[in-house]
Amino acid sequence: MLRSAILVSACTAALVEGLAFEGHGVEALFKGPWEAYNKAPDGRIVRPVKVYNTEGDVTTPEGLVAGGKTTLTPGSLVTYEFAENIAGRVFWTVEDGEHLNTHTTESFKLSFGFTESPAFIGRHSDATTDARHQDLPLDQPFQAGNNSFDKIYIRGAFKYMTIWIEQNASYTGSTPSFTLSDIYVPYAAMPHFENPKAYTGYFHSSDNLLNRIWYAGAYTLQLTTVDPEEGGSLVDFNKRVDHNHFPPGAWASNFTISNGTSVTTDGAKRDRMVYAGDMTIAVPGIAVSTYDLESIKNALETLFAHQYWDGGMPYAGPPMGYHGEYSDTYHLHALLGVWNYVHFSGDVAWMARYWTSYRRALRVSLRRWNRFRGLFWCWSTADWLRPGQGGYNSEANGIFYLTVKKTLALAEIMGPGYLSMEEARLLNDILSAMELNYDILWDEDKGLYRDNIDTRRTIYPQDGNSWAIFAEGLVPLERAKVISKNLRKRWNKYGAPAVEMPNTISPFATGFELIAHCYAEEHQTAVDLIRRMWGYMLDGEGMTNSTFLEGFTIDGNIKYPAYGSAERNSHAHGWSSGPTYVLSTEILGIKFVTPMGYTWKIEPHFVDLDWVEGGYATAVGKFTVKWKKGGKLEVKTPKGTSGSVVWEGEERTLQGGGIWVWHSDGWREGEWDAEEDDGKYSFKQPDPAQERLGLEKIRSGTTGSGGQSVLS
Ligand SMILES: *[C@@H]1O[C@H](CO)[C@@H](O)[C@H](O)[C@H]1NC(C)=O
Ligand SMILES: *[C@@H]1O[C@H](CO)[C@@H](O)[C@H](O)[C@H]1NC(C)=O
Ligand SMILES: *[C@@H]1O[C@H](CO)[C@@H](O)[C@H](O)[C@H]1NC(C)=O
Ligand SMILES: *[C@@H]1O[C@H](CO)[C@@H](O)[C@H](O)[C@H]1NC(C)=O
Ligand SMILES: *[C@@H]1O[C@H](CO)[C@@H](O)[C@H](O)[C@H]1NC(C)=O
Repeated sequence: MLRSAILVSACTAALVEGLAFEGHGVEALFKGPWEAYNKAPDGRIVRPVKVYNTEGDVTTPEGLVAGGKTTLTPGSLVTYEFAENIAGRVFWTVEDGEHLNTHTTESFKLSFGFTESPAFIGRHSDATTDARHQDLPLDQPFQAGNNSFDKIYIRGAFKYMTIWIEQNASYTGSTPSFTLSDIYVPYAAMPHFENPKAYTGYFHSSDNLLNRIWYAGAYTLQLTTVDPEEGGSLVDFNKRVDHNHFPPGAWASNFTISNGTSVTTDGAKRDRMVYAGDMTIAVPGIAVSTYDLESIKNALETLFAHQYWDGGMPYAGPPMGYHGEYSDTYHLHALLGVWNYVHFSGDVAWMARYWTSYRRALRVSLRRWNRFRGLFWCWSTADWLRPGQGGYNSEANGIFYLTVKKTLALAEIMGPGYLSMEEARLLNDILSAMELNYDILWDEDKGLYRDNIDTRRTIYPQDGNSWAIFAEGLVPLERAKVISKNLRKRWNKYGAPAVEMPNTISPFATGFELIAHCYAEEHQTAVDLIRRMWGYMLDGEGMTNSTFLEGFTIDGNIKYPAYGSAERNSHAHGWSSGPTYVLSTEILGIKFVTPMGYTWKIEPHFVDLDWVEGGYATAVGKFTVKWKKGGKLEVKTPKGTSGSVVWEGEERTLQGGGIWVWHSDGWREGEWDAEEDDGKYSFKQPDPAQERLGLEKIRSGTTGSGGQSVLS
């Protein structure tokens, strides 16, 4: 009842700020059987689905799952399981009864413990800070009626909730029992979406595992999107700014990490902070699954709000940025985040507003350009917690090259006056010089790039070799193919090792490796790696089967080597969601040439699949691809757009606004064999300010593609 009422009002109301079209955040844009894979809750109230375990004297533990009552006594415990990894604070009711008197309520408390992984269930929580191995239990008094945690106790991610009552030796009365009912969690993630299942993209194929992975990636990105006032779960770190007195092991999420109503963060349980580094993977994944660009914009704005006096961007948003925390690579990731935001949103007015700040930031990196070496000299050692960053590092150089390239692309979108002739010339010269000089890092015998030219010459990093290819144009295709083969040789049963960090498998670095295989035109290799590694990350021991974890060891153990405590690992980390955008943009092959998809290039790679379909949307409309082995390829793109489709070795130009079907003799207008409901969505019209600033150019297709050169 409530749902349909909300639907009606949302369709008649004006667009909520930040949502791209009517129904955005309310209704899924693509309806079909694939919705069964969507892991987001149905509505915003979540209840446990299963009794996982009990200890001691508990009556009808299943009561709290089935809308009934559950009675606990001191010394007893119940662990409940939720269908998926979720987020929020707990609400419950304590029944009034004969045992609820001052003596018992002074002597006993109801304790709560939470964990994402089933490996850490017990009378404690998994860890947010590193003050202790595990977080302390959250103790709540018994009081008749409705109860809930205080607002500061949002638990950012958990799939298992244990409740228990400790014994109390100094209590002298008869054994009391306490009856609970109506326990639930208002879902805290993605606060601005009325309906958490309202995805704007989809992926469905003959491979059940790939479907599950696409949706778990999308859900990971959703769980890491939070209310900005419910961030910052590193309470010990927060002390430097908010001077809290939390004891070691206490936990909370009460730090305001950005402006606005929602923001994308690194991880759901921790750190619940804005991290540019994670965004290079997270932003495209968000764009193709929920098109929640508002949360990305808020994240970027918080980084700009804390830009240092010299133009450097903070390593992360608040509570970082107050004490000079900085990383050259994350600084560059912040600029790539800007590129990705503009690419998917077409928000040129926003770019114009931040252009001066962007250029100040770029100048910081340009100061590290050594024109005699023809390479970028990385000043800081901070990176994604991998050791050995700094100097002429191959990963840092790849990130720098791509940032320079995307800066030229941004300037081209924005038009004349955004870069001076000298600046544009310098950026172009840097690209040419790097294409020559990056070679000094190459080891012909190994067929891989070294970590550094001065030190760590015998380490052949996963991130550096992946970035060499991801930084499109830095190395030629033949070499990319050699790297792809050699990276593949290093895989083990659980995935691709990040050899630059001992004992580690990094879904972050492997997200870049996936793209590297695709750019090397080895799409089957990318899909094989997705199945092997992300399949393990769903079904392996200690996994959540919902969301993807931050990192693990090369033997498949869920301890991330970056931390002392296994419990500290984040099991919902946006940087681990790489397959979601890889499947959409490289396997389905839907890519934009100009922002928002006014011009596009569709180049599918269906590898070993029997059939596949999927798509995503922007404020311009819906983009869809559908194919069956032995059947035909169908593509559908919005009216007013244009682009090309590459299929069976041929590239053909097409106009948007219809369905095109490939027949042996070429493209013909076709019929989509699914129900069509496009008329229902009114996609947002660009505002006049945007039009003046260059959107007109984007729409008419007069701006070029990747901004290879603004001089030519
Ligand atoms: C145990 O019970 C006594 C009163 O019976 C109370 O004062 C004390 O705080 C309780 N201890 C704990 C750890 O709850
Ligand atoms: C307790 O919460 C329930 C909904 O969970 C509500 O129906 C009921 O009125 C509330 N009771 C009190 C006393 O507030
Ligand atoms: C978070 O809560 C603690 C405990 O109430 C408080 O000391 C601290 O100032 C709060 N932090 C912020 C940023 O509001
Ligand atoms: C919110 O915006 C204001 C104005 O730009 C800025 O000073 C403040 O730092 C921002 N807050 C956060 C948490 O980024
Ligand atoms: C994992 O999730 C899928 C749905 O995405 C479900 O079919 C499967 O049963 C789950 N596995 C376990 C062990 O719960």
